[in-house]
Parts: sequence; structure tokens; C-alpha cells
Amino acid sequence: MATSAPVKKVPIHLQSSQNRLLIKNGKIVNDDGMEDGDVYIEDGVIKQVGRNLIIPGGTRVIDATGKLVMPGGVDPHTHLELEMMGAKTADDFYKGTRAAVAGGTTTVIDFVLPNKGQSLIEAYNNWREKADSKVCCDYALHVGVTWWSSSVKKDMEQLAAEMGVNSFKMFMAYRDSWMLDDYELMCAMEACKEIQALPQVHAENGHIIARNTQRLLARGVTAPEGHLLSRDEEVEAEAVNRACVIANQVNTPLYIVHMMSKSAVRALQEARRRGQKNPVFGETLAATVGTDGSHCRNACFRHAAAHVLSPPLRADPATPEAIVEALADDVLQVIGSDNCTFHEKDKELGKDDFSKIPNGVNGVEDRLAVLWQKAVNTGVMDPCRFVAVTSSTAAKIFNMWPQKGRVAVNSDADVVVWDPRLERTISAATHKQAVDFNIFEGQKVVGSPQYVIVNGRVCLDDGVLRVAEGSGRFIKTPANSPYVFGGQLPGAAAPEAHLTIETPTKYTNGNTPSPD
Ligand code: URP
Ligand code: ZN
Ligand code: ZN
Ligand code: ZN
Repeated sequence: MATSAPVKKVPIHLQSSQNRLLIKNGKIVNDDGMEDGDVYIEDGVIKQVGRNLIIPGGTRVIDATGKLVMPGGVDPHTHLELEMMGAKTADDFYKGTRAAVAGGTTTVIDFVLPNKGQSLIEAYNNWREKADSKVCCDYALHVGVTWWSSSVKKDMEQLAAEMGVNSFKMFMAYRDSWMLDDYELMCAMEACKEIQALPQVHAENGHIIARNTQRLLARGVTAPEGHLLSRDEEVEAEAVNRACVIANQVNTPLYIVHMMSKSAVRALQEARRRGQKNPVFGETLAATVGTDGSHCRNACFRHAAAHVLSPPLRADPATPEAIVEALADDVLQVIGSDNCTFHEKDKELGKDDFSKIPNGVNGVEDRLAVLWQKAVNTGVMDPCRFVAVTSSTAAKIFNMWPQKGRVAVNSDADVVVWDPRLERTISAATHKQAVDFNIFEGQKVVGSPQYVIVNGRVCLDDGVLRVAEGSGRFIKTPANSPYVFGGQLPGAAAPEAHLTIETPTKYTNGNTPSPD
């Protein structure tokens, strides 16, 4: 008869130290202010914030002297375990969220992308099945509206009412798979408005791209650079403008995903200047601020193809800086990763035809460090704005705030202890993502997480990654987000700060962090 191994009892003082955590002497950074203080966590929730806290015995203490204590990142745009253009992404829900945590992101919002004709509910259930048992941090879902009918509208209503979805993405590109025409796009936006969900658009003119692609291939242009040539900046800007006009006709808020160019940002500003009746939120990507489209011209196919995504990285070398400025100035509101990684063997599907290269890049792991390097270390952004664009604003838009995106009593204990002096060089050789390439390869960054706490569990422990597969939860995002439907337009004054700034830190350009 088999004898079972003796059950080892964990001594009670060790158990409690798992559940109780004190982060001491750090500078707590929220989107609206900073304060020196301690954070006490119990059973996955922040229980106390401040000075001279009364802490039970047996609590584990993390010394955060000289470090920043920030809400874990919220990445509003990932594609984990997605099948697209004949390939499957390298990062699944385990590897992808593990990498997210390693970089300081503790919540991701992924996209359910139904095939044309497929029930949205069925696609959603498939995504939940893939993700629930694998995620190492909490996650939520947007759902793509990739075709249109009365049954799609019904599915949207059910997803919003019962299944925790408050945002739907429509594609103005990918003519052969996910694209809607303007009539369908307008119908989908109307449906969103009825259920107080937020419409999102991928803004590129799919017809122009299709025609340009045919013309380029006919002329023998097959290399990855053709991807860039088929869709220049005005192809993106035109669609941004059109999406804003349609949203204005419908009288609905709008969220434009992955804005990649100066022209697209100008089109957004122009629409707002004309008097958009509702907020239009602009998202950009870590890729956009961390690299540029010149890599698509690299003679090495692998290198060039690894940088192919849509809309494309722009070859204009002034783009990354301009996008960082736009984020700092609240012209753009959030930065995601659009993490959609393909191994070299999959990118090779487009070896003889750039239009067959699976679209997508990495970013879920390096998003925070890359932006810190480009925006905070250069003095363009203070840490409060950094927290806003990487965490709090996405949590507000998608109605998870203050559960997510805030270091405060009763918020989830998703906390990053950020060491602004930690130096490292980004490389595919050391990253945690599954993919065999990193678009930020060789970049030196100063500033990275030292500890990452996910729902009260120390998952990055002084640089050592210890995640638990399946420990993350699905977060239902309720419709009618007050931040979206409550009337505050992007660029308007932020709500009054309720944290006091004790010792304003000086940044290299003389900026001081401000509460708004
Ligand atoms: O190239 C990209 N962006 N791949 C992911 C799909 C999408 O359009 O977001
Ligand atoms: Zn897209
Ligand atoms: Zn190369
Ligand atoms: Zn995407």
C-alpha cells in the first residue's frame, strides 16, 4: 500500500509573514502626489498607509529607503495566446503575465478577438479558458467587434451586463479579417453607447493599405520595409480623424489604441480643438517611445520583421520624443505594450511577402523601464505622471480604480518598489518573455523594479522572480466608468490632490513633481 508523504506544517509565524507585509521608508507615488511613508499589506489588500503604523508581530518588512513605492502597472493592451496571420504568439498567458510581473506590471487587459461569424460569447469563453488557469497576475478583457449583425449587438449587451466587459475594439484595418466598414463601425459605436461601454478603434485606412500593398508587391517590393511604405502617417491620421467624426456623430466617448505617429496625434488634437462632445482617449505603446521604424529597413530579415506591427513604428527619428511629450502633456493618456510576440520562424511566413509577416512586438515586460528611461530620466515627466500613464489612468478608464492603480487603504496590494538607480541592459538573452527577440535589445535603462507585490504576494523578491501560475484573477470591469462617462475631458485639470508632497524632488531639467 502506498504511503502518503507526511504533510509538512508551515509554522504559524511564517504563514503570517506571507500574508502580512510592511514596506517601510519609501516614497509613495500616486498619480496625484507623493508622500514619504510606510505601506502595510494584509491578505492581499493595503490596510494602512502613513507613518507610525501599528503593525502585528511576524510581519515581513521590506526596506524601501531611497526607493519609490508605486501602484503596479496596468497594461491596457496585450495579445497573449493569440492566433493571427497563420501563427500563434510566443507568449501565452503564463509566460506573458510572468514577464509582465518581472517588469512591474500587475494587471493586463487582453483582447478577445472573435473570427468573423463567431459568437462573441463563445470567443470570450475560449479566452477565459485559456487564461484563467495560467495568469500570474490579475487580468481583464476587451472584446473585438470583428463583424456586425444583430446577434453581435446582443452578445455585446450580455458581455457588458453579465461578463465584466466594458470596452470593445473595432478595426479600421486588416481588410481581409477583422475590418468593419464605416457603417458597421457606427453601428458598433451606437451599441457601445447604449450599454455605456467604451468603443476602441484601431485607426488605419484598411482599403488604402490593401491597394498600396498590391501595388508594392506588383513592383517587386517584398521586404519588411514594404510594410512601412504601404501605410504612411496620413493613412493613420485619416482614420484617427474619421473615428473621431463617427464617435462625435454617435455622441460617444472613444479610445484610440496604439497611436504611432506625430500625424495621428495631431489629428487627435485637431478633433478635440474642433469640439469633440465626449472624451477621446489616446493610447501609445512602449515600442513607440523606445524604438523607431528605421529598424524595418535593416538588411537582416529577422531584425526587420521583428519590428513589424500595425500601425507601424515610424521612421521619423523625432517620433519617440514627440510621443513622450504628448504623454507628459496629457495629449495622450496611456501607454500600453500591444505585446503580440512571434518567434523568428513565424515572422518568416512573410519572408517573400511583407504583408504576410505576423504583426506584433514585445513590450509587456519592459514597458515601465523603457518609459522611465525616456521620460523620467530625461526630466520630461515626473513620477506622478509616470504612474498616471502606466497605471492609474488605464485603471480609471476601464473602471478598476481605485482597486487597481492606487497605493491607498483598501486598494489591491499590487505594489512596485521601484529602484530609480538600478541599472540594466535589456536583452532577449535575459528577458522573461518567451519570444526570441527583443526590440529594445542593448538599451541601457536606469530604474527598474526591485520588488513586485501581486495581490499581497511578493513575486519579484529583490530581483528574484517567484510567480505562481494561475494565481491571478479575472477582474470584471463594470460598464459606465465614471471617468469616461462622468464628463471629464482629457487635458482638463486633474481632481484635487489629497496626498501631501513633503519634499519635492528635483529632476534633471529643474521640473519638480506636481500633484496634477
Ligand atoms: O501589429 C499589431 N498591433 N498586432 C496586434 C494586433 C493589433 O492590431 O493590435
Ligand atoms: Zn490594433
Ligand atoms: Zn539582425
Ligand atoms: Zn493590439
